[in-house]
Amino acid sequence: MSAKIIDGKAIAADLRARVAGEVATFRAAAGRAPGLAVVLVGEDPASSVYVRSKGRATREAGMESIEHRLPADTDTATLLALVAQLNADAGVDGILVQLPLPAGVDTQAVLLAIDPDKDVDGFHPVNAGRLATGMPGFVPCTPLGCIMLLKSVHPTLSGMDAVVVGRSNIVGKPMAQLLIAESCTVTVAHSRTRDLPAVVRRADIVVAAVGIAGLVKGDWIRPGATVIDVGINRTDTGLVGDVDFAGAVQVAGAITPVPGGVGPMTIACLLANTLDSARRREG
Ligand code: GUN
Repeated sequence: MSAKIIDGKAIAADLRARVAGEVATFRAAAGRAPGLAVVLVGEDPASSVYVRSKGRATREAGMESIEHRLPADTDTATLLALVAQLNADAGVDGILVQLPLPAGVDTQAVLLAIDPDKDVDGFHPVNAGRLATGMPGFVPCTPLGCIMLLKSVHPTLSGMDAVVVGRSNIVGKPMAQLLIAESCTVTVAHSRTRDLPAVVRRADIVVAAVGIAGLVKGDWIRPGATVIDVGINRTDTGLVGDVDFAGAVQVAGAITPVPGGVGPMTIACLLANTLDSARRREG
């Protein structure tokens, strides 16, 4: 049997269309477009591609994209001054500093400087704390997109066993928080987990976010489980996820492809967060 393929591209297109419609309403009422500022430091090829895609998607949704491209040798003080300027700019509803920053920059200081009420990435500790305590804030875009993909298969996730492989601040930890909020029983596994295959085999829901190409094998998947693959790994054979798709698709009940699964949802959720921010700021 072969798993249902979860079409992230189609689900993201629906969300983007919905956001674009709501942006039009916002513009008519507020007399301005929501604005998203994206900061790229250096010329990392993958980051440049992401930033270009984010800019295009922002404009297609009817929002204003404000792009700041700075040289790789930009120092922390310069970046902090730019963030302060964006914090103070009433036309900027969302601020996204593309990660990773060059090694010489104090990433923590930069993320801490972003106004939590413009932190559409949801990376500021205030927003991480809001998520952990169930208070409304900005939720990181990739895990938010993963929840939407899961709900396209299971409208209610309550009581399901979920295993998140990976414990990053950007995906693993917020993913676990969101699954807890959906009343899943959540296990967070990582590189030091003993007998990872056995842990993954317990899961009704597997979210793989470790950045290791093909780590999660087909025979680790419980038959019928739903598999969300967050990995985007560049290999000689092209882009592959953290899940061995060819093996897992034979066993899973539903699975996201790479590309065309989680990736498109991240940008769609960024647009949704930016619109939310603009609405909150207009009161
Ligand atoms: N680098 C990889 N993913 C992301 C993301 O979602 N936001 C930012 N700011 N940087 C990233």
